[in-house]
Amino acid sequence: MSIHINAQPGDVAETVLLPGDPMRTKWIAETFLEKVICYNEVRGMLGYTGYYQGKRVSVQGTGMGIPSALIYAHELITDHKVKNLIRVGSAGSYQKGLKPRDIVIAMSASSTSGINNARFNNSDYAPTANFELLMKAVGYCQKNTIAFKAGNVLSSDEFYEDNKDSYKKWADFGVLCVEMETAGLYTIAAKHNVNALSILTISDSLVTGEELSAEDRETGFSTMVNIALHTL
Ligand code: ADE
Repeated sequence: MSIHINAQPGDVAETVLLPGDPMRTKWIAETFLEKVICYNEVRGMLGYTGYYQGKRVSVQGTGMGIPSALIYAHELITDHKVKNLIRVGSAGSYQKGLKPRDIVIAMSASSTSGINNARFNNSDYAPTANFELLMKAVGYCQKNTIAFKAGNVLSSDEFYEDNKDSYKKWADFGVLCVEMETAGLYTIAAKHNVNALSILTISDSLVTGEELSAEDRETGFSTMVNIALHTL
């Protein structure tokens, strides 16, 4: 047991999928896994373990933003011995050619969060995906002709920014999209020598203002979850 995850020793699998939303966590467990148990309900941040094609896997909600995601990632790694953490989340597009429902695999994550600035005395640290997980996800996409983009994403501390155009600077430097957790996840995984990868589905575009409908979100998210489950 840990402070925010009420699981008994061995309840959590070595590989965990990490959606931000606890209800999406439940949906993934009920839709994709067999022989599912729910091991966590603390603060409504649901966690489940089950089997996918015979492989044991957990799904744990993280909430939104780096501080919340780090609480769950820290406890999963240090108290529940998790070795592979795969975020499955949504992101806002920064690029014209990247549309709602498109898949992004985050090779690296820039950030507006102050956590790593404090940790590294204002020097830059480059949070980076685990290469093996990245290659497995890319390989699965290529084999199944699933279109994707791989590159740098922005993990922002703000969903609602004062300046609606502030994304353009990041876009000019090749950042693909914005979400709120990956830089924290890649950093804590590196600190503990475990593996992390973020797979994202574009849910909205800061360039065009388009947004996915609730129905489209579900189909789009299924593709991302399938990639993650084949990355195990
Ligand atoms: N996740 C999905 N869309 C987002 C956006 N526009 N900003 C930050 N995180 C997001």
